[in-house]
Amino acid sequence: MGDMLALVKTSPTVAELVNVPIPECGPEDVLVRVRAAALCGTDLHIFAWNAWAQGAGIKLPFIMGHEFCGDVAAVGSAVKTVSIGDKVSGETHVPCGYCYQCLNGEQHICNNLRLFGVHRNGCFAEYAVIPAVCAKPIPPAITYETGSVMEPLGTALRAIVETNAAGTNVVVLGCGPIGLFAVASAACLGAAGIIAADISDARLKIAAQMGAGRTINPTNDDLAEAVLRATNGYGADIVIDASGSVAAVKQSFSYLRKGGKIALIGLPDKPIELELGKEVVFKEAKIIGIHGRKMFETWTQMENLLSTGKLLVAPAITHALPLSRWREGIELAQSGQACKVIFNL
Ligand SMILES: NC(=O)c1ccc[n+]([C@@H]2O[C@H](COP(=O)([O-])OP(=O)(O)OC[C@H]3O[C@@H](n4cnc5c(N)ncnc54)[C@H](O)[C@@H]3O)[C@@H](O)[C@H]2O)c1
Ligand SMILES: [Zn+2]
Ligand SMILES: [Zn+2]
Repeated sequence: MGDMLALVKTSPTVAELVNVPIPECGPEDVLVRVRAAALCGTDLHIFAWNAWAQGAGIKLPFIMGHEFCGDVAAVGSAVKTVSIGDKVSGETHVPCGYCYQCLNGEQHICNNLRLFGVHRNGCFAEYAVIPAVCAKPIPPAITYETGSVMEPLGTALRAIVETNAAGTNVVVLGCGPIGLFAVASAACLGAAGIIAADISDARLKIAAQMGAGRTINPTNDDLAEAVLRATNGYGADIVIDASGSVAAVKQSFSYLRKGGKIALIGLPDKPIELELGKEVVFKEAKIIGIHGRKMFETWTQMENLLSTGKLLVAPAITHALPLSRWREGIELAQSGQACKVIFNL
């Protein structure tokens, strides 16, 4: 079928943009002409080949990238859900379809979960092959760039939906792409007060644009005190962690109100010690883990909110570059100067 450009991680120390054959589409697969792909922290781990990447079950060489949007270019013989020409966004969680979770409406936490762009070739390429179940058709009104960030957006939106944040006071920890999308989702779904915290003032500025009523840099101000002051001393109804910071998560139990909920999205690199009696049991704190998007309830909610223009994503996308400038994109993301970086193809 010809060749395509792809960003291939060829060895632990090398990634390069090279010509590779356009992949074949199996009977249950979809071939997508990728139009926009977004860079995520996971890609940076894989690029750096750090301890996480080394233990993630990745087989090299492989095509990097997992967040994307494009047009269906070919479908396998058994595919009924999408047709050639449909605009699709990619769901990263590849479910087995037969385990207990898959059979009980929780495919996104499948027992045999595989990840697109980690355990199989990804989307930093002109074409990508994904299982049809992961090719989510989206309305034409959603742009390629917005479509390329629906995967992280959905994780954030889900935290707001699952905590039922309408009319509440929400604290969002971490204003990377996920935290910013959580701020926007909370604003969109009617949170009463949104306090966003990050140690980067540049990111806090974006949080304010996306709907945070107050922004706090915990290196300069006492976050717990600020939350208690803003909530008549009761504490936050909801905390969303998108920082993965051990210190931030631990501290949040001190200003979560009695009966409050904490949704954990961030992935701390160490265990967190909690005084369960005081911080969880007597408080009746509800701790909710969030791993990706409900397939496909969260996607439907995103489509509805994005196509009516109610859910804001643009301020989090700080850079859009052609894939040929991938190295610059990675450096911008590594330096913390960029928030979400998109590659156009
Ligand atoms: N659960 C899931 O399905 C899922 C999916 C994607 C990413 N993640 C995880 O979610 C987290 C956020 O992802 P991201 O792409 O936005 O990452 P990111 O690294 O861009 O954002 C994290 C932000 O937290 C901030 N931060 C660090 N320490 C802090 C502190 N003490 N207080 C407040 N803010 C602090 C950082 O400055 C940064 O802006 C990461 O841990 C990532 O691994 C989870
Ligand atoms: Zn991602
Ligand atoms: Zn399964």
